[in-house]
Amino acid sequence: MAEPVIHHRARDYRELFERLLSRLEGIFRTENDILLYTASGTGGMESAVANLCSPGERVVVVSAGYFGERWSQIARAYGLEVDELAYEWGETPSPAELAIRLDELGSAAAVLLTQSETSTGVVADIEALAEPAREAGALVVVDAISSLGAVPLETDAWGVDVAVSGSQKALMTPPGLALVSISPAAWERAARASSPAYYFAWEPVRKAQEKFDATFTPAVSLVQALDVAVGLLLEEGLEEAFDRHVRLGRACRAGIKAMGLDLFSPDEDRSAVVTAVRVPDDVDGQMLVASIRDRFGITLAPGQGPLKGKIFRIGHIGYFDVFDITTALAAVELALAEAGADIERGVAVTRALEAFEHTVV
Ligand SMILES: Cc1ncc(COP(=O)(O)O)c(C=O)c1O
Repeated sequence: MAEPVIHHRARDYRELFERLLSRLEGIFRTENDILLYTASGTGGMESAVANLCSPGERVVVVSAGYFGERWSQIARAYGLEVDELAYEWGETPSPAELAIRLDELGSAAAVLLTQSETSTGVVADIEALAEPAREAGALVVVDAISSLGAVPLETDAWGVDVAVSGSQKALMTPPGLALVSISPAAWERAARASSPAYYFAWEPVRKAQEKFDATFTPAVSLVQALDVAVGLLLEEGLEEAFDRHVRLGRACRAGIKAMGLDLFSPDEDRSAVVTAVRVPDDVDGQMLVASIRDRFGITLAPGQGPLKGKIFRIGHIGYFDVFDITTALAAVELALAEAGADIERGVAVTRALEAFEHTVV
């Protein structure tokens, strides 16, 4: 990003953009078009709703946390009829329940899913959830903002019509770019949809990207950075990166449990993005996160919405190794001990390292 900014209408940019788009196909595991917007991930989500749907149309939102609720908010803003398959925050969505809901409804234009619900640490089974959606004739739209590059997303093999991601999570780039993959069926639907869109309209972006050009001035430095970052990811190997994330998740959960803390995220291998932990009863969760940040320079995420103060979250996606986990665990241990919490000291780091090293993925 410190390199000179190249001109976005010149050959250098086209070469960069062509390489980036072909690398992204490898990350999304798709032959579909992948459009790039200078926007945060939510812009990519909004583009999906705006381009696929017409006012009054019904969509089903599978919602189990803060970001599932965002799908509903966007869809309502576009005048859609939103049917929510809503779960308590922290629950894992059930494909069988989605099938029943779709059956009861008769039809839906699209099913809006969240792969990694970052607010709770739950990673949904997109492959299984996509099946009833496809059978009901609904488009499968997935928020993969915090999951792409960390856990498997087989866009084509699972029949995902639209997958949305962002630069700033497992793609290891500063915030500011949204990525949207679009299947032929989604393009067909988009040709008929009547919601308004201008900056986020898909068709002009596709036309520009055919020539490796951009509709509007792109965030050139971020595009340069994303190209390097996805290059690193492919160099590591996507499968190897998924394995590393599984082991990081196991290490984090092992350390947390060894201290005697309760997990909020499910204790399963898919939970490889962020680990959510219940704050002990007599401790103020907001203060805990603030004190770990101020004293040790370690940023944990607090709980959002109804989980504010009740959980804290340790993220482990992207440019991350086991020592980042052990450092975070050591800081949590120290801060909790000083806050008077009843925890087991001196074991979390060892258990985390063991879980990272001795598990076969
Ligand atoms: C799962 C998920 N969806 C959507 C978003 C929103 O993305 P952005 O803040 O880039 O708009 C985030 C951001 O944390 C996320 O984790």
